[in-house]
Amino acid sequence: MNEKKVRVGIIGCGIIAGSHVSGYLKSGMAEITALSDSRIERAKALAEKYGLSQVSIYENYEELLKDKIDAVSVCTPHHLHAEITVKAAEHGKHVLCEKPIAISLNQADEMIRACRRNRVKLAVVFQNRFSPDVQRVKKEFERGDFGIPIYGEAVVKWYREDKSYYHMDDVAKSWRGKWSTEGGGALINQTIHLVDMLQWIMGPVEYLYGIYGTMMHNIETEDIGVSILRFKNGALGFILGSVDLQPQEDWVAIYGSKKSVVIGSDKMIAKEWDEKSGTKVRSVEERKETLTPFLGHDDAVRDFLESIVFDRVPAVPGEEARKSLEIVLAIYKAHRTGGRVTLPLVE
Ligand SMILES: NC(=O)c1ccc[n+]([C@@H]2O[C@H](COP(=O)([O-])OP(=O)(O)OC[C@H]3O[C@@H](n4cnc5c(N)ncnc54)[C@H](O)[C@@H]3O)[C@@H](O)[C@H]2O)c1
Repeated sequence: MNEKKVRVGIIGCGIIAGSHVSGYLKSGMAEITALSDSRIERAKALAEKYGLSQVSIYENYEELLKDKIDAVSVCTPHHLHAEITVKAAEHGKHVLCEKPIAISLNQADEMIRACRRNRVKLAVVFQNRFSPDVQRVKKEFERGDFGIPIYGEAVVKWYREDKSYYHMDDVAKSWRGKWSTEGGGALINQTIHLVDMLQWIMGPVEYLYGIYGTMMHNIETEDIGVSILRFKNGALGFILGSVDLQPQEDWVAIYGSKKSVVIGSDKMIAKEWDEKSGTKVRSVEERKETLTPFLGHDDAVRDFLESIVFDRVPAVPGEEARKSLEIVLAIYKAHRTGGRVTLPLVE
């Protein structure tokens, strides 16, 4: 065994766990030594798929935490992120947690505190932050290239089939589509990626309004939600998140007095103009660009490992991941109270 490699355990061996395994394997910086899933056959299947023959397999993740590992990936249903992260921190393990950080701000705060107290890293997977295009737009925005911030938008028009996505096993077993386990629906699970990008570029939200509904899925939580909002920088904003809609498309759009950018899944459209030419825009330069490829989970995993090895703050620490959760929870609160919700959100 190479002593310099970070020894990693993976907790939750469902759909996304494979992206973590593959990221660790490609990094060359880690050794996966333990897997845990309460449905142990899933951990065994993951080990087999990736040829992890030496790995220890646990049904109970608390046993995995006693193993000789340095770090864990938390790839479980949302409601378990907090409990597992806090226990991992208490065992001195660094944590790479899947999004959303948790299903309440109290949970998120507990996780952040536990990791600080035990001097371990807490990174959360928001892989779009590693996109060079998103990073460039953020820099341009901060440099003032957009002029006066006017409007920002996060739109997720996705489709998830009711039976295969929400009730893969059966309605009673599935953690998806329930407030107690998923913590919400389309907003907290899918849309949160773009909410994170929107707030990362535009900055904090001052207040928002929101409504949601359940249109075509047999679930407790929302399959569509919308919000109008005001950012602290004065700009207005809009969020739409749904798993009911086809054709599927998504984008984050940022508009200022000099420039606008729409970052979609497959292309980016940037327009720049001369603000001084008055209401009649003199010259609009439009660029349609293919997005620069990036590695998603591989990048997030590598950043996490480097944060451990070089003892630095990860790219998306718990404090950063809390921000998109706060916005999503504020939309839920706005729907329930029927009014304006001002941030910071008090639970
Ligand atoms: N970053 C992304 O793009 C992305 C994509 C998909 C999912 N995710 C996130 O990854 C997480 C997992 O989602 P998924 O789609 O893989 O779900 P999943 O249901 O496929 O997998 C979750 C696994 O956790 C296991 N589990 C449940 N309780 C456990 C416990 N107490 N101990 C150990 N294992 C336990 C389940 O048996 C299951 O195998 C969620 O937070 C989800 O939002 C992120």
